[in-house]
Amino acid sequence: MSEKENLQNNHWQRVDDDDGIVWLSLDKADATTNVLSYEVLDEFEAVLKQLQTEKPRGLIIQSKKESGFIAGADVNAFKEIKTYEEALELIRHGQAVFNCLERLNIPTLALIHGFCLGGGLELALACDYRVADENPKTKLGLPEVLLGIHPGFGGSVRLTRLVGAPAAMNMMLSGRAVHARRAKKMGLVDAAVPQRQLQRAARQIIMQQPAVSKASGWKMLTNYSPARQLLALILRRQVKKRVRPEHYPAPYALIDLWDQYGGDKKLMMREEAASVARLIIGETAQNLVRVFFLQEQLKSQGKKSLFTPKYIHVIGGGVMGGDIAAWCALCGLHVTIQDRQYESLARVMQRAHGLFKKRLKQPRLITEALERLRPDMEGIGLSRADVVIEAIFEDVDAKQSLFREIEPQLKKGALLATNTSSIPLEVLGEALENPERLVGLHFFNPVAKMQLVEIVSGALTDPEAALQAAALTRHINRLPLPVKSSPGFLVNRVLMPYLLEAVTLESEGVAPEVIDEAALDFGMPMGPVELADTVGLDICYSVAGILSEQLQAKVPDRLAELVKSGHLGRKTGQGFYQYKKGKIEKKRCKASDATIHDVQQRLIKRLLDEAHACLEEGIVKDSDLLDAGIIFGTGFAPFRGGPMFYSRS
Ligand code: NAI
Repeated sequence: MSEKENLQNNHWQRVDDDDGIVWLSLDKADATTNVLSYEVLDEFEAVLKQLQTEKPRGLIIQSKKESGFIAGADVNAFKEIKTYEEALELIRHGQAVFNCLERLNIPTLALIHGFCLGGGLELALACDYRVADENPKTKLGLPEVLLGIHPGFGGSVRLTRLVGAPAAMNMMLSGRAVHARRAKKMGLVDAAVPQRQLQRAARQIIMQQPAVSKASGWKMLTNYSPARQLLALILRRQVKKRVRPEHYPAPYALIDLWDQYGGDKKLMMREEAASVARLIIGETAQNLVRVFFLQEQLKSQGKKSLFTPKYIHVIGGGVMGGDIAAWCALCGLHVTIQDRQYESLARVMQRAHGLFKKRLKQPRLITEALERLRPDMEGIGLSRADVVIEAIFEDVDAKQSLFREIEPQLKKGALLATNTSSIPLEVLGEALENPERLVGLHFFNPVAKMQLVEIVSGALTDPEAALQAAALTRHINRLPLPVKSSPGFLVNRVLMPYLLEAVTLESEGVAPEVIDEAALDFGMPMGPVELADTVGLDICYSVAGILSEQLQAKVPDRLAELVKSGHLGRKTGQGFYQYKKGKIEKKRCKASDATIHDVQQRLIKRLLDEAHACLEEGIVKDSDLLDAGIIFGTGFAPFRGGPMFYSRS
């Protein structure tokens, strides 16, 4: 192999092997993740032009970063864009570079490991071939809709032609990524192989140059009339069930683009750029980009400590403890799970098995994850754990007596965490010799779905313990939000007045359907009445009781009545709504725009007022962290940028 020195290259490294194949590796300078910044694209274009005249045997593009191939376009650049013309120029430049790659008259191949997202996948799509590492960490996707845009570097044009419109549109409209094996099945990659065979497989393909794959038969036909128009109609209907065009225009714009220009590659390319340029300068995309950076801010909370825990011991194998333990094992940690009851542990293992099967797919990986999670009736894991997480009943005496019992057995320096949702840390700490090591790790239900974890510090909590808890949270791919110990912490505290306002409205005679519609119209993922039913009215009642003093809010009698009569919501088949076989029975919402508006004002005002109060009381450090917490903890309309941002604007 010879290394062709290219002194101008900051980010790309070129190595020519003995077969005359060029191996081009992206290693973006001063970054842990590869993204397609202006500079990266410019350098890439220069290399491509060089290869055009050199005509080597082939080109293999790979990444030198352990984290993955390429995470996408540089989202920082989005913030700088102010006009449609600027946006158009940026997108057309990206398209031009990838068109140059596509037109290269030598075989080209993308060698993919880890994440290959957005612009990264669009680059791979412009290659003749793609080979991916079959490890579940490999993820291929076009998540642009989550940022309020759609693929703009030719992705929508090339993907629909490579795998057929139904699979391509599904991937782009949902923003969901697929693993390598699934990608192979749908024709997105030519081979999915174990890591050790990646290079050999890539070389072989370049040497043999098999036919370049593309959608065949009916899959290709879906891109042409009349199938295209029919499918567009169905897709619009499906998208409408999930999001409204006035909130999230991008999926609708993508369907329109494909519907109108899907049959003509060149035209669609031109219109793809125009469509993304329009979206990028819109309010939704700008706010979703803000949310992206809020998420980065939460992630950075976990980088302030170098704590790298290996062994976790969870006490309490109920709904929460069981799922926390399984999640930690899924993320590679060694976990022991302790409960007093054998049946609880059996249920934990059964649920964990389901989770591992769903997420890991491969039998070997499932077995390994199961081996990492051990039921532990006697609490043998307690003394060797780096972190002990308590998740037993929400009862002060029970928790305190457990802490008294376990503290002497903890390893020196071990972190002690509680998943309490309402008991002040100061109260729990009374049972400890060293209350400074106690921190709250408040997970939300269901653990596998809810990304946010509140890191709760009491008056005595050692700041280092809170940083370690945040580091653990990142370790298990969750978003840590530091909060002060105070009733309801941040998320439940802000959510509860909003839910209670909904119950009050219902007691005043407003139909649940109208209340929920007002919230959906604002952009909430679920109406508050349905949410209360889903959480369980008994749980709402109990949390409301704890918070009512602090919030100076009366718990509506209606809630108490429903709980008393055993109507606890979805789980009992009746709450505010009725449920048949778990399916909600809703009537059509018949209300004027004015009524919806008034109800919406009342609901949102309660939420915003409480958010302001939390900020004033210093429950979170600043308004950005508050916005991040409420978006990721409650699903507050992300396209509005968060409650504080919304009330400012
Ligand atoms: P759960 O009632 O489902 O489970 C509690 C488990 O702890 C039971 O399996 C019980 O056998 C076990 N347990 C009780 N005392 C024990 C002891 N001394 N030693 C070992 N095991 C013991 O409770 P859930 O819902 O999982 O709640 C646990 C904690 O998580 C509570 O503090 C709750 O406030 C908090 N939380 C609950 C959420 C939820 O949605 N359920 C959400 C967030 C936090």
